Amino acid sequence: MNLQRMFLLITGCICLATFASIVCIVKSEFEKSIIAQYQEKADILLQSMKAVRAHVGVVVRPEATKLIGKDGFVVSLQSTSFAANKVFAAIPETHRYAVTFRTPATKPLNPANTASPVEAERIAALDARHAAGEKDLVWKGVRAVDGQDCYVIALGEVTRESCLPCHKARQDAPADLRDKYPFDQPPRQAGRVETAEIVTIPVDSLYAAVRRSSAVAGIAEARDLAAASRDVLRGIASQVADAAGRAEAIVVAAARQSAAQGAVATSLEAMGAEAGGAAAAMDLADAAAGEMVERVGNLHALLASLEDGGAK
Ligand code: HEC
Repeated sequence: MNLQRMFLLITGCICLATFASIVCIVKSEFEKSIIAQYQEKADILLQSMKAVRAHVGVVVRPEATKLIGKDGFVVSLQSTSFAANKVFAAIPETHRYAVTFRTPATKPLNPANTASPVEAERIAALDARHAAGEKDLVWKGVRAVDGQDCYVIALGEVTRESCLPCHKARQDAPADLRDKYPFDQPPRQAGRVETAEIVTIPVDSLYAAVRRSSAVAGIAEARDLAAASRDVLRGIASQVADAAGRAEAIVVAAARQSAAQGAVATSLEAMGAEAGGAAAAMDLADAAAGEMVERVGNLHALLASLEDGGAK
């Protein structure tokens, strides 16, 4: 594997790892925000129903009592839980977002409000909390309801002395209620938490919403990421191509240079050879000259001896 490929591979891996971690972070934040939105929906519903009950209890019921008299009780006019349950039932199914609202009791007047095992368990837990002197009577968490995990908010309600006339025994209740309800439960006790306002959302529907939203967001995200990675990879590719181009130019230049150096070397070699030849020639010439000098010397000696002989 050459250097260019290794560089591309490492850069690609770094890009992929970065994108993968970005996708994970975005996804978990997204999930958290959807879950928070659902919890807010549940809370708004609970508070709205509480407000309906407060309005009926504080505004409507006293006025109705003035008209009807202490012994009469018109459930549809004076019962706060009845009003809240009816208001909730009037919300179209499509706008409930799988959230349900109930006013269960462990000792209900209306059997339709009988606490389920999970509701009874939450009411008992809130009762224990109240007995321990805690002011905060809200429980939030996940519980399995009919084998399905649900996010539950339970707001405990303390029974007061003023509640007892209608919630204790048949003989104490307003005449209008005596034959309307079975009164088959043990009497309610003041100072205890025996009822609660409870909202429930199946966790499945919550995650289905997360999946729906993440699918839509995921497609957009994947498209953006693909575009971003394509741009980054294009940038890298063009840089690598540039670098490769430059490297090639350098290689070509180096090749040219080495060719030129080769030529110079050859000519230097030739010159060296020539110089060697010249030196050898010089040596020869030198030797010849030496010989000639010697011969001239000999001639000189011969001439001198001849001259000497002539003079004698
Ligand atoms: C004058 C009568 C009356 C009084 C006083 C009264 N209620 Fe009720 N309450 C009713 C009736 C009637 C129902 C049943 C409504 C229905 O059929 O849905 C009811 C139902 C409820 C329910 C739903 C569970 C159930 O038992 O069916 C809750 C919770 C509740 N009342 C809480 C209270 C609290 C808390 C007080 C005191 C602060 C109180 N009520 C005082 C008449 C009364």
